[in-house]
Amino acid sequence: MTFNFSAGPAMLPPEVIEQIRADLPEWHWRGVGQGASVMELSHRGRAFEELIAEAEADLRALLAIPANYRVLFMQGGAWGQFAAVPLNLLREDEAAAYAVSGGWSESASKEAARFGRVEIVARGEAPGYTRIPPRSAWAVLPERLAYVALCSNETVHGNEIHDLLAFARDLPAPLVVDASSHFLSRPMPVAECGLIYAGAQKNVGPAGVTIVIVREDLIGRSRRVIPSVLDYAVMAKANSLFNTPPTFAIYVLALTLQWIKRQGGLATMETRAIERSEALYSAIDRSHLFRAPVVPAFRSRMNVVFETGDAALDAEFVRFAEARGLSGLKGHRSRGGLRASIYNAMPMAGVAALIEAIEAFQSKHG
Ligand SMILES: Cc1ncc(COP(=O)(O)O)c(C=O)c1O
Repeated sequence: MTFNFSAGPAMLPPEVIEQIRADLPEWHWRGVGQGASVMELSHRGRAFEELIAEAEADLRALLAIPANYRVLFMQGGAWGQFAAVPLNLLREDEAAAYAVSGGWSESASKEAARFGRVEIVARGEAPGYTRIPPRSAWAVLPERLAYVALCSNETVHGNEIHDLLAFARDLPAPLVVDASSHFLSRPMPVAECGLIYAGAQKNVGPAGVTIVIVREDLIGRSRRVIPSVLDYAVMAKANSLFNTPPTFAIYVLALTLQWIKRQGGLATMETRAIERSEALYSAIDRSHLFRAPVVPAFRSRMNVVFETGDAALDAEFVRFAEARGLSGLKGHRSRGGLRASIYNAMPMAGVAALIEAIEAFQSKHG
């Protein structure tokens, strides 16, 4: 048995892979053969239009998305949204506030600064970002504020906001959340946020589709000239079918949403994420060879960052684990160390195998 701990693109549920395999020669939609694979069919055909509508309905049900929010399926990844958010939301005489809690919020703030005035209102401590600055520690928010942006799960540094409401409540401007790496691993207070975006390739599908959930009154807000494919107004008007969408990626996303529903929805995803991450962090905390540097209250349930403190020993562990069928454990190139990404599709057996590897490696180096 092999387990893939890659941070993204990442493991998909085996049932989803099986369904793709069955559908590959000929896609069956609602029991009716379509004469070709989903990749070969028009996005304007009835079957695909029904599929994308069903994916949106499933997403709305899973996250309890209120009726005054639009769901958009876009391209360009989360990096596309780093630009799309200021282009759509930030007017020329306004500022956007960014809370930097790791590498991704840092990148988002820098990309936004190319398009308008950005103020960093909080900054975690680089290089480790082992804690997230609370709202009470933020600088005064700028006047003429268009939005406040943060990343709710920092994939590279392994920290996660566990109480998003505490950040969203009583803000004078809408909260924009990059939820890419923990999207659908837990419920989210959508109604308290202005906009949530996530690339699919970590928790909910393959690379190629980016989900944007945006409150209707924010669409068209900046009144700027925006490339059509990044323009929320254009995409919303066309129900995400303005130009050719990534049809295969949306099909896999739809299958993954059905899988999440069958498992019991986000409550089940959250329970499992807690079980997996608690087991892994306690094994690391018990060990005298490895440590998890992120302060417990901010530890990510999805991306478990750990290390021995010795780069050569970390590299040896990566090889040791690979020989046991555990792949993708090398830390991000900007961070070093080790990282186990344990998204929705990771079974407890994978975490148990990793814990065994940690213990065996420690005995070897005892
Ligand atoms: C939290 C977060 N934001 C943004 C990105 C960038 O996403 P993409 O490569 O899809 O543009 C990633 C991952 O790669 C991420 O984990």
